Amino acid sequence: MKELKEAIRTRGKAINKDILLVDSFLNHQVDPMLMHGVGEAFADHFKDMNVERVLTIESSGIAPAAFTAYKLGVPLVIMKKQTSKIMTGNLIQTGVRSFTKGTEYQLTVKRDFLPENSRVLFIDDFLASGEAAFGAINLVREAKAELCGIGIVVEKSFQSGRGRLDELGIPILSLARVKSMGPDGIEFME
Ligand code: G4P
Repeated sequence: MKELKEAIRTRGKAINKDILLVDSFLNHQVDPMLMHGVGEAFADHFKDMNVERVLTIESSGIAPAAFTAYKLGVPLVIMKKQTSKIMTGNLIQTGVRSFTKGTEYQLTVKRDFLPENSRVLFIDDFLASGEAAFGAINLVREAKAELCGIGIVVEKSFQSGRGRLDELGIPILSLARVKSMGPDGIEFME
């Protein structure tokens, strides 16, 4: 997606060769016009997949996923990283380890919001080593729902996530695929 790559080039910053700062438009301050375009791009790509739920992980996946769900006209389901006293009922959980942050959390969703056999599109802001995506895949399986696609805003193609997901044969669309980052700038895959 041209506008997204342009935003990454002009408003993003490679902190080092592994971490891309996009907090001015994606995960701290959010550019709603850009996210609207992101939602449109995902919705258009997956429009024939009969998607019934868009699924994401709090917190940075919510903006792109909300626009996608709006465009597809289906509910958005947000997997939680923390449970609370009011989160009761039949919960599904799986452990996820974040390599970037060195933390571990229990990804949690209410079974009612991922009905059996429902067709689910998973949207997330970043794909790095793929741990979050595999957590989502596990929860969808546990819910006996069907994962019909994965939409990623920024894929760091030089990390292992894309390769690991490709092996599963699930359709993936990454709107910006970063090949490398460094002092000379950010390079994208074609
Ligand atoms: P993985 O799920 O692909 O294995 O990724 P990893 O564990 O390495 O990353 C976990 C968290 O770090 C995610 O946020 C992800 O969005 C974020 N992240 C990964 N790479 C980058 C990067 O290059 N730049 C930025 N800005 N973030 C990155 P999270 O813990 O889920 O936090 P949030 O959604 O609450 O923001």
